[in-house]
Amino acid sequence: MSDHQRLELDLPGTDQRSTMIVGRGLLSQAGDLVREEAGRASGDRVHLVVDRGPGDVVATRHAAVLEAALRGDGGVSLGLVEASESNKSIETIVQGWDRLADAGVDRKGLVVGIGGGIVCDLAGYLASSWMRGVRLALVPTTLLSMVDAGLGGKTGINRPLPGGGLGKNLVGAFWPARLVVCDTDTLETLGEREFRAGLAECVKHGLIEGEETLAALDADLPGVLGRDPEVMPRFVARSASVKAEVVRRDFREGGERALLNLGHTYAHAIESRSELGLLHGEAVSIGLVAAASASEAAGLASPGLAARVSRILQGCGLPVSIPGGGGGLVADLRGAMQLDKKNSGGRLTLVLPVSPGDCRIVPDPEEGVVMAGWSAVTD
Ligand SMILES: NC(=O)c1ccc[n+]([C@@H]2O[C@H](COP(=O)([O-])OP(=O)(O)OC[C@H]3O[C@@H](n4cnc5c(N)ncnc54)[C@H](O)[C@@H]3O)[C@@H](O)[C@H]2O)c1
Repeated sequence: MSDHQRLELDLPGTDQRSTMIVGRGLLSQAGDLVREEAGRASGDRVHLVVDRGPGDVVATRHAAVLEAALRGDGGVSLGLVEASESNKSIETIVQGWDRLADAGVDRKGLVVGIGGGIVCDLAGYLASSWMRGVRLALVPTTLLSMVDAGLGGKTGINRPLPGGGLGKNLVGAFWPARLVVCDTDTLETLGEREFRAGLAECVKHGLIEGEETLAALDADLPGVLGRDPEVMPRFVARSASVKAEVVRRDFREGGERALLNLGHTYAHAIESRSELGLLHGEAVSIGLVAAASASEAAGLASPGLAARVSRILQGCGLPVSIPGGGGGLVADLRGAMQLDKKNSGGRLTLVLPVSPGDCRIVPDPEEGVVMAGWSAVTD
């Protein structure tokens, strides 16, 4: 493990610490890591929540290595999950509870999730709710879950919205993983579209952190798009560290952490319309352009920021507008924003980028500002 990168995240207001380890070939070392970093002792059972992946690729190629590494005298049980937003549901959690009961996982047990952000969110909520909370370790296998979903302690499941559509992450808990293992070799099997979707969160981190991080992203992009195994660990660790810094200062989202939702108020509304067929990262990409456009309309960002953000995202191969989106859709999307978790007293809150390194939380924005965002990303 000589060339791995390590990130420690002490969580304020708790006695908890998350340790993230990023590098190549880490899956086979997971037994030692879970023992040393997550405190698994002899006899402690492990329950694996496994993302099947397309054609079972995650289960057979990656989770099998992890399972072998974790097999110990405490025993390992396993539950397979088809990763979809509709399966990020209470029904999947109930199945998980039943499996934990069958496997005899007690309060000393651990839940370990391996897969993309959907499985990380599910495994996290399962761990938070089982016997009032058991230890959690995560093994993210998509770029998005390595730089974002795996770290920071937010877990969640979706619920149907009263007016139709899917309410993203409406139920959940803060439950940080003791250990997050990012084996960048697992990215080799990730589909191109899913890989690029992760870059949207990296661009978001660049906009939050500032010009230096955006410039580093630009410099690394050719190697990243080619999934150069030498570039990926450094790239993942750098982007994840932006999130870690924000979470370290504001774990429970009393203020600053809301900045990490940049682009997400628009994105979650887009995702509530699953018929649009967009991945979370793709919706975030469109949401970032919408937020930058709204910021220009509010007179916060200088004209040109939205065009610049759009160029960066297109360079990553990401969509910057809703394909075929127009007409009645905008009214639907505007309605879906009302259930965003940042809202308070029924009033909308947006995160708007003024310039890279200067993003602001804007409560109760003018309707014209909100709609300027939608106009910029619909036909
Ligand atoms: N908790 C948080 O802080 C947080 C932050 C950001 C996003 N999220 C959530 O994360 C989810 C999106 O995560 P995502 O982009 O990883 O999508 P995902 O979990 O849907 O995974 C994308 C696809 O890739 C497959 N896959 C995973 N690893 C693979 C691999 N190594 N090889 C081949 N296929 C693989 C999955 O099976 C799935 O089909 C959303 O539900 C979002 O709300 C949570």
